[in-house]
Amino acid sequence: MKKISHGKITYRIKNFVENIPVSNFMLSVCHCLSPFMGRLLRYKYIYNYEYLRILDFYKINLIHNSKVEDLLDLSYLQSLLDQLITYQFNVTEPYKNYKGFMVQYPLEFAQYLLTISKFNIQRYLEIGTFWGGSFITTFEYLTKTNPCSRYAFAIDRSYYLSMQLYSKIRKNVYYMIMDSKSPQFQSFIENMPPFDLVFIDGDHSYSGCKNDFDSVKDHAKLIAFHDILAVKDIKRLWDEIKHDYKYYEFIDNNRKRKYGIGLLEKI
Ligand SMILES: C[S@@+](CC[C@H](N)C(=O)[O-])C[C@H]1O[C@@H](n2cnc3c(N)ncnc32)[C@H](O)[C@@H]1O
Repeated sequence: MKKISHGKITYRIKNFVENIPVSNFMLSVCHCLSPFMGRLLRYKYIYNYEYLRILDFYKINLIHNSKVEDLLDLSYLQSLLDQLITYQFNVTEPYKNYKGFMVQYPLEFAQYLLTISKFNIQRYLEIGTFWGGSFITTFEYLTKTNPCSRYAFAIDRSYYLSMQLYSKIRKNVYYMIMDSKSPQFQSFIENMPPFDLVFIDGDHSYSGCKNDFDSVKDHAKLIAFHDILAVKDIKRLWDEIKHDYKYYEFIDNNRKRKYGIGLLEKI
């Protein structure tokens, strides 16, 4: 496995971003004067995010450098994930609340990872990877706790630089910019051998999430969903389907707003 190190691309993006002078005030004025100009300047923020994400991307060495027995310990894993996770982000103030690149709660994701580590997952698919936080963490975690030949497929309808870079540095990781409602996605699923685990975190509407579930349900041994509590539509779907499977729910009850991860295992 190639070791991750800062590359020229990171520094080029860093220089590019830092040389554009812009402030929130300037952005608001420009946006009022000209929506087009405001939109152009907003790209600076998008690039800032990309840069931060690429830096965060190197935090995966935290997993890489951990001992396997520590990674199988819930409190160690929770504190490690705490460093990888963002709870909130605000596009107009990119640095203020920035904490990481994964949109998950540490305790929920730690419990989920510990559970999936007990299965032999050699073929992984994630629908809705965003910056790659959950995808990259899952792949790195499984690689450390169960090293084997593993294929992982990342699907998102939008392009994210961090995901593209990751797919270049890790063998057998494929990043596809694809809408899960498209015929291409259906034919991708039908032409692939079955997956050991599919993580669904893409379209959060009832019909979107159901489409993802229906597409993969006959092609996966384990299916996980994010937001089984936070999003009404996903909760509705989860409650309709979970009793047909052995199911697990990972919920951080210490938080007022709960996301919730659900995992289905075929009986
Ligand atoms: C909540 S984010 C995923 C967060 C990520 N799994 C994590 O925990 O770090 C949802 C992502 O799903 C993607 N998405 C939404 N609808 C989609 C669709 N129909 N097909 C593919 N990707 C979709 C969005 O572009 C977005 O990047």
